[in-house]
Amino acid sequence: MLSLNLPSLKIGKLEARVPIIQGGMGIGISLAGLASAVANQGGIGVISVTGLGFVHPVPNVHFKVGNVLSLRSEIQKARSLTKGLLGVNILIALTDYGELAQTAWEEGIDFIFMGAGLPIQKPEAIPEATWRAILTKVVPIVSSDRAARIICRHWSKHYQMVPDAFVLEGPRAGGHLGFNKIHLELPEYQLESLLPEVIEAVKPFEEKYQKPISIIVGGGVFSGGDIFKFLQLGAQGVQLATRFIATYECDAADAFKQSIVDCKQEDLVIIDSPVGLPGRAMKNAFLQSVTQGLNQPTQCPWKCLQTCDFTHAPYCIAKALLSAHTGELDKGFVFSGANAYRVEKITSVKELMDSLLAEYKTAVEYFLKKQAWYLTQAQLAAC
Ligand SMILES: Cc1cc2nc3c(=O)[nH]c(=O)nc-3n(C[C@H](O)[C@H](O)[C@H](O)COP(=O)(O)O)c2cc1C
Repeated sequence: MLSLNLPSLKIGKLEARVPIIQGGMGIGISLAGLASAVANQGGIGVISVTGLGFVHPVPNVHFKVGNVLSLRSEIQKARSLTKGLLGVNILIALTDYGELAQTAWEEGIDFIFMGAGLPIQKPEAIPEATWRAILTKVVPIVSSDRAARIICRHWSKHYQMVPDAFVLEGPRAGGHLGFNKIHLELPEYQLESLLPEVIEAVKPFEEKYQKPISIIVGGGVFSGGDIFKFLQLGAQGVQLATRFIATYECDAADAFKQSIVDCKQEDLVIIDSPVGLPGRAMKNAFLQSVTQGLNQPTQCPWKCLQTCDFTHAPYCIAKALLSAHTGELDKGFVFSGANAYRVEKITSVKELMDSLLAEYKTAVEYFLKKQAWYLTQAQLAAC
């Protein structure tokens, strides 16, 4: 019998009371404040590690050392604010992703969500045994069954294990998208089509390793009704990001949050990012000036992204996202999901989670009523 309450989400040995993951948002949008607030409501709160050394500059140290020091203090801060489940989000495209993963693992983080690449290359500086231990916490973010299969095969061959879960991020997500631009609107690339394919792809590995592999879907999941739909389609959880921007606890500046509330559907655009992927963002004067070639970097003291070559980059994405995080939207831009224009107001994380739970319950009740009606019709027809 279908319960009116949301089921819990199991990932390996850990269990979240509510199957909602707050997607990691960089730079500086989801830090200890937002992540701990979500974890306190029974979901999984996620700290974005991207550019942490810029968000909390540590004087007189190399920026990569600063990233590590800031990550340690951000995880410790989040831990002091919640007893719930916490993760970090790491882009594999970062030049120091290995060091950051190791730091998160040393700090006892519950999950490491890894996106913008496949976690199949061991970073050189990390010993094999440490990397194996780190991988036990890794939840890869994928956009296709092919990517899930490649990761499972690689881990199985080299480490005799497979991930406990995957996040399947669809083309309606905010931020960087793991799709070709021409595929973004096609029905076969939407979450509803991709989810059964990913479930099928991991099945042989669930059987081989005698364990469930949870699939969490993200990208345009907006309401409790959406959550009901995706759980019915076989997902074990959902990942939401854009909705969490419009919360008091979100770690971005008020101007950043308000831009989500003010957003109209026609404001949402697909951009080319120096990360080497398309991204969904809100159009503004800064992005307009980028198309006119007015923001080309002349130097780069950091080389934070493996995939970025400043001599060809149309702008420095680290600088732009850092400016946006502090509310200087004329010097940067806001990444946002395809449903940003539906966000009406800024609320607390608790209010948002409560409303999702209430909508979920309504969706279950509606579904059960419809089911009863169809059963009655079938019985009447049989008379
Ligand atoms: C402002 C913003 C920043 C994001 N930054 C990251 C990031 O650093 N790493 C990542 O894996 N995903 C990032 N994402 C994607 C989210 O984690 C999430 O999977 C996706 O946006 C979910 O779709 P939704 O926003 O429609 O709920 C970002 C999304 C937004 C809106």
